[in-house]
Amino acid sequence: MTPDTLAILMISSGGNWSPAKWKSRLVTACPGRPVMLLPDDAADPARVRYAAVWKPERGALARLPNLEIVFNLGAGVDALLADPAFPRHTTLVRVADQDLTNRMSEYAVFHCLRYHRRHRMLEAAQARGEWLAPDQWAANAVRVGVMGLGVIGSDAATKLKIMGFDVAGWSRTPKSLDGIACFHGPAGLDAFLARTDILVVILPLTPDTRHILNRALFSRLARDGVLGGPILINAGRGGLQNEADVLACLDDGTLQGATLDVFETEPLPADSPFWRHPKVDVTPHNAADTDPDEISRYVARQIAAFEAGRGLANVVDLSTGY
Ligand SMILES: NC(=O)c1ccc[n+]([C@@H]2O[C@H](COP(=O)([O-])OP(=O)(O)OC[C@H]3O[C@@H](n4cnc5c(N)ncnc54)[C@H](OP(=O)(O)O)[C@@H]3O)[C@@H](O)[C@H]2O)c1
Repeated sequence: MTPDTLAILMISSGGNWSPAKWKSRLVTACPGRPVMLLPDDAADPARVRYAAVWKPERGALARLPNLEIVFNLGAGVDALLADPAFPRHTTLVRVADQDLTNRMSEYAVFHCLRYHRRHRMLEAAQARGEWLAPDQWAANAVRVGVMGLGVIGSDAATKLKIMGFDVAGWSRTPKSLDGIACFHGPAGLDAFLARTDILVVILPLTPDTRHILNRALFSRLARDGVLGGPILINAGRGGLQNEADVLACLDDGTLQGATLDVFETEPLPADSPFWRHPKVDVTPHNAADTDPDEISRYVARQIAAFEAGRGLANVVDLSTGY
């Protein structure tokens, strides 16, 4: 018996993340291949060669002795690698998909424009019935710094540039992007932060980036910009931010505002001060939703390429964690 089965392992959370919905999509995308939902279906664990997963139960992948490839059904693999029993001999593939990337870039552009066009101020004025026309400035007066210049961050930086913002980016290794000031590594961080009014964070959560968004970093952001103080937009992962520091920095003016899509605890607890903080916009980790049809076809294409002897794309480097 040659292992051939694609197993789906995920914690049900409804909507797009319903396991049954994913199974029907993957059955359609992978004609002729046995597709099992674990632990519901009565599958022989030894037949499983591939797994398509989203936050599976800890230890579940370690129980599949012939597993070769794990497809994470999202871009960030931090939750998966937090499992001490994750089978590190397997190949881990993440999602990098133009549809997902477009949605993340929309989020970055939309929220930068909200600050640039002072939309919170206009909403508050409307609520008061006040005809308030605040000063305007050109987009190139606003310096946006994108932390993370990977698949998503480089697309977002490019689209922010098209909107006219003065854009810089920061990555681990050197990058070159047309019209964008690129910085890298710890040595490039100070100069990057010093020319940033709006910090857009699209980093993965790794041992190196956990709590990178803290008071020491916020205090190095530019304070001479037209917005009157630095803004944080975090669409990466909640674990990137020290939440006590974010709140304290908002309260003492080190940060002027924050738009947060991701949190250390999700869903955000009802008693979290972020919900009602006057300087915070909360979105429920939906900066970019995943389209199950699109991603199912992506998994099918990757399996077909692998079995035809071609390489897999978007393989995670387990040594860096992204
Ligand atoms: N909120 C949402 O709905 C949502 C949706 C999708 C994704 N995300 C998040 O977005 C993240 C990024 O996705 P992606 O597809 O763009 O990932 P990616 O292609 O792997 O890019 C990651 C970027 O982060 C940089 N980086 C990693 N560690 C770093 C460090 N220690 N110092 C400086 N830069 C570092 C990398 O630098 P190099 O280029 O030098 O390698 C790269 O530019 C995901 O991991 C996920 O957490 C969130």
